[in-house]
Amino acid sequence: MCGIVGYIGHQNAYPIILNGLRRLEYRGYDSAGIALYDGENIQMCKTKGKVDDLSAKVNAEMATAGNLGIGHTRWATHGVPNDVNSHPHVSNSGDLVIIHNGIIENYTTLKKELVKRGYTFHSDTDTEVLVNLIEEIKKQENVKLGKAVQIALNQVVGAYAIALFDRNKPDEIVVAKLGSPLAIGIGEGEFFVASDATPFIEFTNNAIYLEDGEMAIIRLGREIAVRRIANDERVDPSIHELQLNLEQIEKGGYDHFMLKEIYEQPSVIKDTYRGRLLPNEGIVRLGGLEDHLEKFANANRIIIIACGTSWHAGLVSEYIFEEWARVPVEVEYASEFRYRNPIITEKDVVIAISQSGETADTLEAVKLAKRKGAFVYGVCNVVGSSISRETHSGTYTHAGPEIGVASTKAFTTQITVLTLMALRIAKVKGTMSHSDYMMHLRELELIPTKVAQALKTNDHIKAVAREFKDVSNFLYLGRGYNFPVALEGALKLKEISYIHAEGYPAAEMKHGPIALIDENMPVVVIAVNSNHYEKVVSNIQEIKSRNGRIIAVVTEGDTTVTEIADYVMEVPKTPEALTPLVTTIPLQLLSYHIAVMLNRNVDQPRNLAKSVTVE
Ligand code: F6R
Repeated sequence: MCGIVGYIGHQNAYPIILNGLRRLEYRGYDSAGIALYDGENIQMCKTKGKVDDLSAKVNAEMATAGNLGIGHTRWATHGVPNDVNSHPHVSNSGDLVIIHNGIIENYTTLKKELVKRGYTFHSDTDTEVLVNLIEEIKKQENVKLGKAVQIALNQVVGAYAIALFDRNKPDEIVVAKLGSPLAIGIGEGEFFVASDATPFIEFTNNAIYLEDGEMAIIRLGREIAVRRIANDERVDPSIHELQLNLEQIEKGGYDHFMLKEIYEQPSVIKDTYRGRLLPNEGIVRLGGLEDHLEKFANANRIIIIACGTSWHAGLVSEYIFEEWARVPVEVEYASEFRYRNPIITEKDVVIAISQSGETADTLEAVKLAKRKGAFVYGVCNVVGSSISRETHSGTYTHAGPEIGVASTKAFTTQITVLTLMALRIAKVKGTMSHSDYMMHLRELELIPTKVAQALKTNDHIKAVAREFKDVSNFLYLGRGYNFPVALEGALKLKEISYIHAEGYPAAEMKHGPIALIDENMPVVVIAVNSNHYEKVVSNIQEIKSRNGRIIAVVTEGDTTVTEIADYVMEVPKTPEALTPLVTTIPLQLLSYHIAVMLNRNVDQPRNLAKSVTVE
């Protein structure tokens, strides 16, 4: 979490850094800061609050104060969000200025040592310790900045993406990475540094993504020098051509990124299966999977590791893989998996699902599974992300940049990829009848149209939202493939509206949650046509007899549930295994409208950050 951005070149650094921070604000937004250097004076401005609060505080003089700058938008780990704890942090001499995304775990020990040597600290942050450690090493060892950074980082335990400069070196920025992402944009006589490539896409299409354990010295007029931090070995970095464009990272006329991303789902689902799903030829083909089909076909089991919404997508695919490919599947929270000495053998295949590809727990779980000999497959959205690089192979979802903190299009595109994988593996194993296989290929191709149809009910869903915006609790129920959708619906509501919501398998109601039902409790039930339809109808009756209010997601043309429910939200008829791709749409819209009506910050809900790069 936290976004970092830096610039060195011939342009005024301030607007580049500020704009970059706005694009990285999804990574953390409880405070922000910026430091600019013109070769003589370092000017700095920091504030609790958002990037807009920062720009309001920056004066005209500062806004033109140099061709070198670094900026930070923070998601607090050490120290409350306030002006002092905001980055950048400056060393005691005033020479070194740093920004940092990550955590220095042994900072208390390092700090005690520095205090003994006379250093004083103004903030509660681990970052201020790091910048002073670098200063102390530079002084004691009489080395240049790059060397001092390298020695310091070898004493540090934790995770970081850092960028810093030295007052005595106005043409140089030093960066390093371990566990947090860091991209370097290479322009004409200028360089950019950022947590992802979005801050610099209008300036260059060429970027280097540092690998874990690498640092780089970026000096004007020179080639970027990349080295391994542990042993000083020189690295020849590969230069990636960026596929991003500006339109993808702007709101495009929508009030919020979340709404834009909900509406993008028909096209990004299509982008995700394009070239991979060929119903006329009866083919599903996934580049990353073709060479490893045997591994999947012979796997004893598939273990899926993920967090949050990605974990919900994993749960949906558990039902699909088991049904079609007849392989046992376990879906694990990455944070639990990595700390419980899991039993994994070489016959297991692990799938890691992550939109950002940077989630710390998922990344560590991937490393653990690899150490234990499993084949690890990634399903990521962000190209070149740490998880996509750490896994043996994988498939990208082509959702495009997801900027709203609440995940929407990432979820449906993850399910699309996992569905394609299950179809491919089922085909290889011969566990699915040809007619069933062909029917699902054709139906999957129709999903974008059905999602677009579901989106047309937006006005009705907004009216439902108005009825329920002031309640304090919600229950979400679903069965089978739609149980994970109930969990996802509840998560969407709580994270952006701050209304308490719980998701349950509908039949579990009787084992406890039913005690909560009264006339104040709205229950969202996913009651589309399925093998469980009658059973879900009985669950709805049980709620109605206790005066609960029912909002049901039903299949178009439904009459039974429509008669009993207080409100219905219709979705097009879809084969059961594919229903999560459409039932999730009204739930996203319901959460969105409730949050907007409650005046919440939909794209940047409190306490959250898009990319969870700390444990
Ligand atoms: C919820 C949400 C989070 C993420 C979770 C995993 O809307 O966005 O729950 O799904 O933090 O993130 P990734 O998929 O980037 O690993």
